[in-house]
Amino acid sequence: MTSVSQRDSFTGKYGFIAAAAGSAIGLGNIWKFPYITGVYGGSAFIIVYLICILLIGLPVMLSEITVGRRAQKGVFGAYKNLAPGTPWFFSGYMGIAAAFLILSFYGVVAGWTMEYVVKALTGAFSGKTPDEIGAMFGGFIGQTAKPIFWQIGFMSLTCFIVIAGIKNGIERYSKILMPVLLVILFFLCARSVTLDGAAKGFEFLFKPDFSKLSSEAVLAALGHAFFSLSLGMGTLVTYGSYVKKNESLGPLAVHITTADTIIALLAGIAIFPAVFAFGIEPAAGPGLVFVTLPNVFQQMPFGSFFCVLFFFLLAIAALTSSISILEVVVTHLVEDFRVSRKTATIVTTLVITLFGIPCSLSFGVMSEFKFLGANFFDNVDHIASNFLLPLGGLCISLFVGWKMARKDVEDELSNGGTLGTGYLTIFLFLAKIVAPIAITAVFLHGLNII
Ligand code: PHE
Repeated sequence: MTSVSQRDSFTGKYGFIAAAAGSAIGLGNIWKFPYITGVYGGSAFIIVYLICILLIGLPVMLSEITVGRRAQKGVFGAYKNLAPGTPWFFSGYMGIAAAFLILSFYGVVAGWTMEYVVKALTGAFSGKTPDEIGAMFGGFIGQTAKPIFWQIGFMSLTCFIVIAGIKNGIERYSKILMPVLLVILFFLCARSVTLDGAAKGFEFLFKPDFSKLSSEAVLAALGHAFFSLSLGMGTLVTYGSYVKKNESLGPLAVHITTADTIIALLAGIAIFPAVFAFGIEPAAGPGLVFVTLPNVFQQMPFGSFFCVLFFFLLAIAALTSSISILEVVVTHLVEDFRVSRKTATIVTTLVITLFGIPCSLSFGVMSEFKFLGANFFDNVDHIASNFLLPLGGLCISLFVGWKMARKDVEDELSNGGTLGTGYLTIFLFLAKIVAPIAITAVFLHGLNII
């Protein structure tokens, strides 16, 4: 079991990469990235997203891992340990709030993937037209009981894994399963790009039109960089605290960031050519992946088999992310309130699942319940992903850039002077100046202040 009080470390580099990549790669890459790319107009949004990953995501990730390994603690303990008597640890509360909100809607969407495993198994998509498949999705998420049933199922599974302490076991399996997901994604890309009418999808993905890029889109790109890389809530501080002292942190951060980004881009390539080929609305919203991919599978040899496997693996990818989110809240309760791990996990899961119910109902009976023009689900996602996570990231990069002594950062990155850290100056420049200014500017721009 991974808990902060037990300071065992990941067995080797791949243990950490598997856990961190397991957290990073999930619904964010395959469900949310294509759907928001569609909503915000395609290529220009993707370019802004990639810039956010490079200039903000990567340095924030390295900052989190560095702080975690230096302090040998989760996010609260880390701030208290490295800067005793200061209020830095307060930013940990934002992380807790973000974890709470994100998991509440994450569980709903993960539940949808489980329903889709069953649908694919029972051949529900075979012979259906794109319109019928679209209507099937709308009909499903519009119901009250069924999506909640799956949400509860998924959340129970997450809870069980965290209590049973088999998180590492799951990550070991996912090391084998995720490459399979990647292979299916390649097949999907190959099929999607060869469909009749796929060319328009390429244009959408690769021909930027910056005139259509709204300030809201830029904020969403920033928020998604944090969401997708699991940054800003302390997940990677905790994981970083388990990295062995002889690992080189810079390359680790680069590997995770690269893997996460490639998977998101592949998902985009698998989806948009097909969206245009089947005449699906690119801005269809959260259902985009669920409506598009069953159509592509229908056009593939052994499509139904691959469809089952795909949604099953997507649920597993979601699980390795959801356990890392639940862990943020549980670790805090166990460490700072001395609650038992089991009680903390059950109570947290219960409360988060309850809060997730209105997220699920946002597509049915509560669809008219709107605040600032958006439903409950979208508001929860927006507040957590576009505000809390970037704010958490702002704090950690300021902490590493301005509060920690340069020699301590250097000591950590060079493993006590044994590794070259030619990238230190550029990393500190990004953490100190570029990332904080960029995050602040995007916030102010998103709020229409600049
Ligand atoms: N990165 C995960 C995904 O892409 C979601 C996540 C967000 C996990 C924040 C942990 C922290 O699905």
